[in-house]
Amino acid sequence: MHIHGYTFGQVASGAVSADELGRLCDSVLFGDDDRAALRRAGELLDDQIDALLDVWYGFVGSQPHLLKQFSTPAGAPIGDYLDKVRGRFGQWVRDTCAADYGDDWLAYQHEIGRRHARAAKNTTDGADSTAYVPMRDLIALIVPITVTVRPFLEGRATADDDVDAMMGAWLKAVVLSVALWSQPYVADGQW
Ligand code: HEM
Repeated sequence: MHIHGYTFGQVASGAVSADELGRLCDSVLFGDDDRAALRRAGELLDDQIDALLDVWYGFVGSQPHLLKQFSTPAGAPIGDYLDKVRGRFGQWVRDTCAADYGDDWLAYQHEIGRRHARAAKNTTDGADSTAYVPMRDLIALIVPITVTVRPFLEGRATADDDVDAMMGAWLKAVVLSVALWSQPYVADGQW
């Protein structure tokens, strides 16, 4: 797994345990079939990730309340910040489809949560932007991040592929990610 701006072994404190992850996978009905479907989705998406990111960035850019999170406090979009995050976002698609759900993967999920929250937003890129991404938007974006993937899978699927199974697995994987990323937002041990 490629990790950007992050050193392993440094942040494990506060990360979710393998046991908690297992129960969360049970909660989202994530099983071996989903793992296989995600792997296949990763193969189909691999050379389309730039086009997929164009769609996602187009969506964020078209919504002022979302673009704000990539902008200065005065409201000017920060091109350098958008570009740098785009590279990490593309890598996340690959990592999500290929995830082994081990300790390094878990620690990085913790880090991505921190990078959306007050704990660490802006720090990786030294951006002069908003202090945090509202958690409600993180949850809401599960929908566009999921539904926009279908045409990319359909465009490449062969007769042996089950696009619905891949879509289901992708949805579960994104919900799982956001559930993990919510941890730095949740106070008082209620996560
Ligand atoms: C399902 C929802 C979402 C997914 C899957 C997602 C995914 C990601 C990923 C993979 C990264 C890069 C992480 C890294 O550093 O390696 C990232 C960063 C970022 N995302 Fe999201 N995101 C989601 C929701 C949102 C929303 C709603 C916003 C609001 C505009 C947002 C704004 C940002 C910002 C500003 C960064 C850069 C954070 C920093 O390092 O300063 N994200 N996101």
